[in-house]
Amino acid sequence: MAKEKINAKIVRQEQIGSDIYSMVLKVGELAKDVVAGQFISMYCHEGSRLLPRPISICEVNKEEQTLRVVYRVVGNGTKEFSTLTAGESIEILAPLGNGFTVKEKKAILIGGGIGIPPMLELAKSMKTRPTVVLGYRNELFLNQEFEPYADVVIATEDGSTGTKGTVLDAIKENQLTGEIIYACGPTPMLKAISEYAIEKGIEAQVSLEERMACGIGACLACVCKSKEKDHHTNVNNKRICKDGPVFEAREIDW
Ligand code: FES
Repeated sequence: MAKEKINAKIVRQEQIGSDIYSMVLKVGELAKDVVAGQFISMYCHEGSRLLPRPISICEVNKEEQTLRVVYRVVGNGTKEFSTLTAGESIEILAPLGNGFTVKEKKAILIGGGIGIPPMLELAKSMKTRPTVVLGYRNELFLNQEFEPYADVVIATEDGSTGTKGTVLDAIKENQLTGEIIYACGPTPMLKAISEYAIEKGIEAQVSLEERMACGIGACLACVCKSKEKDHHTNVNNKRICKDGPVFEAREIDW
């Protein structure tokens, strides 16, 4: 289904961490084709000069025609979103990006920081219960919501919960094995995971959403280097927001 720009009504919004918010939006028909790993662009009321903010989809409810986004307040745009309440509406463009390809394989899902939310819909889409590895600085969020759908392993930078260190440290400490890895989070984390997956011969899909800006193919701030040449432009570039945000780890030239 093609993307649509709509005025979405806010069903509810709540703060779930010191700077993390959860917003549920009524989006109508377009909910039915949304897959895990896709994102939406959210527009600010204040000043059309501001670029829309690309925000990953945390959950979709096809019956209720709602999408849930969980985002971190990092600037004026997201700050404005955090002040909206139920009944108000917000302009969004959705759904965007390719999303993850769910395969019938023993899966490890890895989310780091604000890369955690898209893993929830992905965990719910899996036929076989996956293991989810969640990496935080220290404050946890969303972790309990994974428990009905996945075995949850936690890593924190300060060691306050779970493994002290990175998500890869947690994988090693818990001797986790899988046939496929799905990951979303900061670029250095994704690079390390890709190298680990390639070394171990495990398939991996990584979502590079951290590097998006406009989210709609207009600013070219999101290009990443790919190993193969793009068929249209004959260069080794891909636009994360258009060609991704999910790529096979082996496709990316870090
Ligand atoms: Fe602007 Fe991709 S984020 S072109």
